Amino acid sequence: MRKRKSESVAEYNILALDDEVGILDSLSVVLKRNGYGFEGVTSPNDAVELIRSGRFDMLILDYMMQPINGDKVVERIREFDRELYILLLTGHKDMAPPLETIKALDIQGYCEKNDKFDQLILLVESAIKSIIQKKTIARFRDGLSKILDAVPKIYQLQPIGYILEGILSEAMTLVGGTSAFVLVDNTNDLSSDHKSIFRGVGDYNKTIEDFMAMLDPTLMEHIGSSRMTQQTVVIDSGIILPLINEFKQTIGVIYIDSDTPEDAQKLLEIYAAQAASAISNAFLHSLVNTKNDELNKTYDALRKTYIDTVEALRLTVDAKDEYTRGHSDRVAYFAGKVGKAFRLSEHDLETLRIGGIFHDIGKIGTSDEILQKADMLSGSEYEIIKQHPLKGAHILAAMSMFEDAVPLIKCHHEWVDGSGYPFGLKGEEIPFLGRILSVADAFDAMTSTRHYRSKLNLANAKDQLIKGSGTQFDESVVEVFIKVIVDDFQAVMEEFDGTMRPA
Ligand SMILES: [Fe+2]
Repeated sequence: MRKRKSESVAEYNILALDDEVGILDSLSVVLKRNGYGFEGVTSPNDAVELIRSGRFDMLILDYMMQPINGDKVVERIREFDRELYILLLTGHKDMAPPLETIKALDIQGYCEKNDKFDQLILLVESAIKSIIQKKTIARFRDGLSKILDAVPKIYQLQPIGYILEGILSEAMTLVGGTSAFVLVDNTNDLSSDHKSIFRGVGDYNKTIEDFMAMLDPTLMEHIGSSRMTQQTVVIDSGIILPLINEFKQTIGVIYIDSDTPEDAQKLLEIYAAQAASAISNAFLHSLVNTKNDELNKTYDALRKTYIDTVEALRLTVDAKDEYTRGHSDRVAYFAGKVGKAFRLSEHDLETLRIGGIFHDIGKIGTSDEILQKADMLSGSEYEIIKQHPLKGAHILAAMSMFEDAVPLIKCHHEWVDGSGYPFGLKGEEIPFLGRILSVADAFDAMTSTRHYRSKLNLANAKDQLIKGSGTQFDESVVEVFIKVIVDDFQAVMEEFDGTMRPA
């Protein structure tokens, strides 16, 4: 885990101006002990020149000085620097400068010299806090104006890739990261397929193939969770910001490997909102322009490599448990056949297939001990198992092309009577495709040998389906399932084996 950077006071330099060297010495001791950078001068001219150098964040100066008073020095400084934080030191109460002077010269505070500087340290601390806030706001104001400047460029027929790269590099200058990537859905695509575009800088300045290879399941899960919840997700390695368009839809994510202080995070979210609107404008613009070949090539590569990556992950899950190997392929196959019997659209059938193949992908983070346990699971182990539908949904949600399968994966352990998990949804609250997947999953679990149960024969499995009809399972799905799968089981399995054999 990386160490979180925080702004340290040592980064702040204080200049003091006093005609008494003794006071400067005391200030030096007190301020350095408190971690500030310090320099003391006795000459007003030196002080003005040092401030002009821009090296100092704050000036502490004596009010009553020879040959000129402190307020005159401040007047000269204010001619070229309205921002500098200035604290006045006064001899004692009666000698405080008039209020009008303090206001007119934008002096932020004053205190008496002879009280061991306790009050001064408090003033300095609160001044530093204001300075940090001011700097953060200024930094982000600059960043936002850069993004706003970037918007007109969109209308100069720039490839979307350049816009994304611009957005990334500006985001990194804002929060000081070194690597970042942006993953955006191509909303240009009017067909039912969903396409995504990727750009990375620093460690992620890679081809899509290499990027996919370095994506680990945890990062994928966090990306998916940020997309689904539309919330910023802060992880050890950095920050993930959802890109949300004007219709409140998530159109992608930005990831920056930066330690972002909390106040900067809020401003970064504003920045992400600007970025999202720049991106969706760019898409709107290119929608009426030429088709972008680069995007299509990118998409094909992306889809292929992502499927390869997730497929590899899935094999890892299956490999963990020799008894469930082949389970997800069978579930996908059964679900597809039932879907056809219901005369679902090609798109729904594809969604069912993806849902079947990946329904247990969320088990990837679950320990082998629990997955392969032959005895009954303990309460806490069961709680861990119950997390896999949501985890899986997050992993698939990382890529928009699989987004239709996300609700199925989330719901494959829901029961129609509301006693399932993770949400306890009832009846039609569970998507229809999810209800199909649930029957296919349960049936295959019953008919293949598992650690915690030897396999049921076909007749028993059929009884279990009928018994669960209306409580665990959707009645209409069970009816069709029995007709097209159970009652014709041998032929169905031969057909399935045929589809699995390499051509
Ligand atoms: Fe499952």
